Amino acid sequence: MAQALKKLTVHVLKNNNVENIISATAIRTNSTWWDNVQMGPPDVILGITEAYKRDTDPKKVNLGVGAYRDDEGKPFVLPSVRKAEEIVFKKCLNHEYAPIGGEAAYTEAVAKLAFGADSPVLKDKSNCTVQTLSGTGALRLGFEFITKHYAKNKEVWLPSPTWGNHPQICNTLGLPHKKYRYYDPKTHGFDLQGALEDICNIPEGSIILLHACAHNPTGVDPRPNDWKQLSQAIKEKKLYPFFDMAYQGFATGSVDNDAFAVRLFVKEGHQVTLAQSFAKNMGKLLSPLIYI
Ligand SMILES: Cc1ncc(COP(=O)(O)O)c(C=O)c1O
Repeated sequence: MAQALKKLTVHVLKNNNVENIISATAIRTNSTWWDNVQMGPPDVILGITEAYKRDTDPKKVNLGVGAYRDDEGKPFVLPSVRKAEEIVFKKCLNHEYAPIGGEAAYTEAVAKLAFGADSPVLKDKSNCTVQTLSGTGALRLGFEFITKHYAKNKEVWLPSPTWGNHPQICNTLGLPHKKYRYYDPKTHGFDLQGALEDICNIPEGSIILLHACAHNPTGVDPRPNDWKQLSQAIKEKKLYPFFDMAYQGFATGSVDNDAFAVRLFVKEGHQVTLAQSFAKNMGKLLSPLIYI
């Protein structure tokens, strides 16, 4: 095959016409060039959707994707999102390139949503916010930035359990990751004691990933008082908090209440990274990554 391809390439170069180029492309797709690519493992989350489709129970609920659904299980678009769509449509935007870090009006608005309109972060302009492709893009860019530029202990501590893509992103970047206790299967609640004990043993300067609200996959969040203790312990160990906020508004129904942890950490003097996702609460695939 390699020999045939070589011949074909020479042929294409000699007779530089469209038909030959097209047949070369067709052969490429059947070639052995990608034969060493291994089939990835089945996706656990999509597996839930497959199991849902197979299930014949009339009361079945698909918990595979954390997005709004109506009583018939169909996607539900919030009226506010519909209204925003109309406003954007009427503006007849120019569809030009955005600046490299994203549209300023957008990055300012999302920072306001995260930190609160009266946050000193916004008044002092101490944040650096960039637009990324959804929450996964924000996480990926955030961890990549850490891989390249973080000056302290490049080790990520993830809650146990956590969203399956957190370890995957770290693996892709060659960023070591470990787990701290989070969910207590005995109480089906947050394991505050376990988390605090583990945090005490995390090497100084490491990165700790925190789900800001509506922890995926458990749905279990620390209470406000638990967050205060976590903030204290994290500060004492000089850890770097990396917040993942993919469900702002879903846990309590209030975007402000769901931002409690992020705002508390900022108030208590932590520097944080924040990856926001609006895929679930607004069906939007542009996501910000914020450093302060
Ligand atoms: C905890 C968590 N973080 C981040 C994301 C990524 O969000 P997006 O779909 O915007 O990439 C998800 C999506 O399911 C999530 O559950």
